[in-house]
Amino acid sequence: MKPGLIHGAAALAALSIFVAFNFNHLLAPPIIPQSQDFLHKAEINHLIGAFGPESLAFDANGDGPYTGVADGRILKWVGAERRWIDFAVTSSNRENCTRPFALDMEHICGRPLGLRFDRKTGDLYIADAYLGLHVVGSNGGLASKLVTEFEGKPLVFTNDIDIDEDENVLYFSDSSTIFQRRQFMASVLSGDRTGRLMKYDRSTKEVTVLLKGLAFANGVALSKDRSFVLIAETSTCRIHRLWLKGSKTGQSEIFSELPGFPDNIRRNSEGEFWVALHSKKGPISHAIVANPWIGKIVLRLPINFKQLHYLLVGGKPHATVIKLNENGEIVKVLEDCEGKSLKFISEAEEKDGKLWLGSVLTPSIGVYSL
Ligand SMILES: *[C@@H]1O[C@H](CO)[C@@H](O)[C@H](O)[C@H]1NC(C)=O
Repeated sequence: MKPGLIHGAAALAALSIFVAFNFNHLLAPPIIPQSQDFLHKAEINHLIGAFGPESLAFDANGDGPYTGVADGRILKWVGAERRWIDFAVTSSNRENCTRPFALDMEHICGRPLGLRFDRKTGDLYIADAYLGLHVVGSNGGLASKLVTEFEGKPLVFTNDIDIDEDENVLYFSDSSTIFQRRQFMASVLSGDRTGRLMKYDRSTKEVTVLLKGLAFANGVALSKDRSFVLIAETSTCRIHRLWLKGSKTGQSEIFSELPGFPDNIRRNSEGEFWVALHSKKGPISHAIVANPWIGKIVLRLPINFKQLHYLLVGGKPHATVIKLNENGEIVKVLEDCEGKSLKFISEAEEKDGKLWLGSVLTPSIGVYSL
């Protein structure tokens, strides 16, 4: 047997034991060098009656943040009144969108993920996991459809977006052409490689595919000088860089290999990138990433979503965000290793010395003072 197979088989044999006995310490991901276990100090901002603030964006006036939640709404934080107000929706069919978290309703109610404001027009662009790209004006309300299909096929899992206002172009990710958002675990475990980085030209209304064959295409972020765009590939724990300008235009390369599963990427004013990790990569997810056949077997095990998730994230919930420089090198690692106040971070947005932290699996936002 090849070493990969032996590791794989051993991991598989160990799986049933882990499931039965909750061996937390054996499941635990390795410690990341230079990690600072400080994130538990974050202030927690509770969303009342809402769940899963995935992306965070401030508008052109610096107000907000705005965030998309699991019932399909986009909320706005009004700091002066210390409360969240309803701002926008992507679905007009919202009569039954009353539960804060209802996976079975996401395709009807919408599930806004990546949010970005256009700095010139003030419009909010929304990557809705089920309903495609939408845009809404600065007064909010019902957003308009922008891109919902490609070559006659509906987008299945639109995930994140960034805007180049000068070129009048949007870059966005479609995580999979097979799996919807609520099946994200199946996408990761099955080794699905149908994710794409796409481009929408606002002047010609043309959609093009820039990169395909990605294993769960996720966060999208342009560099400060717009010379490249980053795309997170969640299932392989990587970030790719695609050059948009200069001698390497059109070429892509691996920008960074990460110790966990990347979600959204957000640039700070210095041009560095904050990458939110859904979780670190423990021994079992490491074996799955290296041997996709293990994931396919794990999918068939008689264990539920919670147990599967527990195995993949390495047991104990935790929070990890990583700052990369423009060369893709890790320059800072902030964590809540024990998951005391934060877990499963989906996005880290830096503004005025504070890091605003979203999560698809909590009913709150974290605000950490850098
Ligand atoms: C809401 O649910 C009711 C009862 O199941 C159904 O009759 C109705 O058509 C639903 N409304 C929408 C807008 O889907």
